[in-house]
Amino acid sequence: MSREFNVTGPCIPKKDYMVNTNEKLKKIIEMINDEEYFVINLPRQYGKTTTLYCLEELLKDEYIVISISFMLLGIDGSKGEKSFCLDFMELVKESLEHSNVSEEYREAWFNEDATNFLELGFHIDNMCKDKKVVLLVDAADYCIGNLAFLEFLSMLRAKFLERQWKKCYTFHSVVFAGVHDIKNIKHKEDYNLRSPWNIAADFNVDMSFNPKEIESMLKDYQSETNLNMDTELISNKIYEYSSGYPYFVSDICKTIHEKLDRDWSIAGILKAVKIIAFDSTYLTHELCTYLEIYKELYDFMYSILIEGRKIRSPYVSVEDVLKDNLFSMELVLTKFAEYYREIIDDVDFSYIEEYGRLIFLSYLNKLIYSFGFFHIESQFTDDRRIVLSLDFGKEQFVMELEFWKDVTIKERAYKEILECMDAKNLSEGYSLILDLRKRKKKEQVSKWIQIGDKKIFSIK
Ligand SMILES: Nc1ncnc2c1ncn2[C@@H]1O[C@H](COP(=O)(O)OP(=O)(O)OP(=O)(O)O)[C@@H](O)[C@H]1O
Ligand SMILES: [Mg+2]
Repeated sequence: MSREFNVTGPCIPKKDYMVNTNEKLKKIIEMINDEEYFVINLPRQYGKTTTLYCLEELLKDEYIVISISFMLLGIDGSKGEKSFCLDFMELVKESLEHSNVSEEYREAWFNEDATNFLELGFHIDNMCKDKKVVLLVDAADYCIGNLAFLEFLSMLRAKFLERQWKKCYTFHSVVFAGVHDIKNIKHKEDYNLRSPWNIAADFNVDMSFNPKEIESMLKDYQSETNLNMDTELISNKIYEYSSGYPYFVSDICKTIHEKLDRDWSIAGILKAVKIIAFDSTYLTHELCTYLEIYKELYDFMYSILIEGRKIRSPYVSVEDVLKDNLFSMELVLTKFAEYYREIIDDVDFSYIEEYGRLIFLSYLNKLIYSFGFFHIESQFTDDRRIVLSLDFGKEQFVMELEFWKDVTIKERAYKEILECMDAKNLSEGYSLILDLRKRKKKEQVSKWIQIGDKKIFSIK
């Protein structure tokens, strides 16, 4: 039977043409070998189930792999602890059916006495003792509203932490896949269960397909069909139109193969994209449903697409800010001032007052995240300004972000930053003043100024 391009459900190597994702899988397996617990959190139709399937195949010689889907548990939020524990063990037992574990071990996974999470925890201990068991859970966010699910996460977390001290046995690695990041779930009715999954390692593998990976599928197809095509050119173009979104990559190929008489040319790709754009696919159908349900999302998309609203954020790269291991505070502030000038015509001043500080802090955080840290000097911070201390390697900075809302404030300029510099025994400081009193764009001036024995880089 010849293979096909698949757009309905997970891909199966023997049946479907598939992008070779070995490089991604290798990185994920490294995490599993390192005993990490983590979440593969991706949008709909992004290859989550396919990835778990491939992982299972690659891991099964070295590990006992339990691969289950929480979709089978249903979304019944009222399901209690007992029923969750029993269903979980039933699923585990079922998943080991075609594995190479003994029948006895498989049967033992279902323990009818383990009807609460404490007992289930002890049971997992027994089942994982002296074994390397990997738990893969698909659709992990399916029972997101179920309190028992959060307690289950808490139990796994407790065992993970205990394992560090060798007090218990548990899963070697746990991988959850889902659309929502379960790391962020908090149950609104139970505040003790905050962040039950905060042990999860960051998952930084880019799961979109790059042009080289797309080409691997086309080459496979080409060698089976003996068709003549420029695989490099075609895969680059498919990438251009799909951004490597797995579903769309396969859909473009399927459309060319099945509906366009195998027209593997640039014109063929454009025709396929047009067909897909006007077709009601699973993804577009789901997006339309969300637009109907969530009015805020609808209004947001409307303002961008129809009214031309621009979403802007301050930007400068870490490489630019960091030259010869020295942090350029001047550049950081200059770029933020440029951003402020850009948005000033489009937003209310109340917006700047309300969100200006937060936008600045998250902008700064991204720039110094891996190399340094900052904190707010609360004794110098008030409703008009925020004063910060930054530590970056051996360098230390103090800076203020000040908002001018009335005339009187001008006379007091630099007072707080100078006091902060005194307190820190620093001779240099930084000041960015956003003048909220003028509606029209005002030229900003940046310069070093001398005040007594201190120097301040000032932008206003
Ligand atoms: N390795 C691959 N090669 C080619 N296409 C792929 C591959 N992996 C996924 N796809 C495409 O993505 C589609 C969805 O795959 P899959 O069901 O694994 O995603 P998912 O993220 O689990 O989806 P859902 O959110 O619906 O659960 C497939 O039908 C196929 O079109
Ligand atoms: Mg899936």
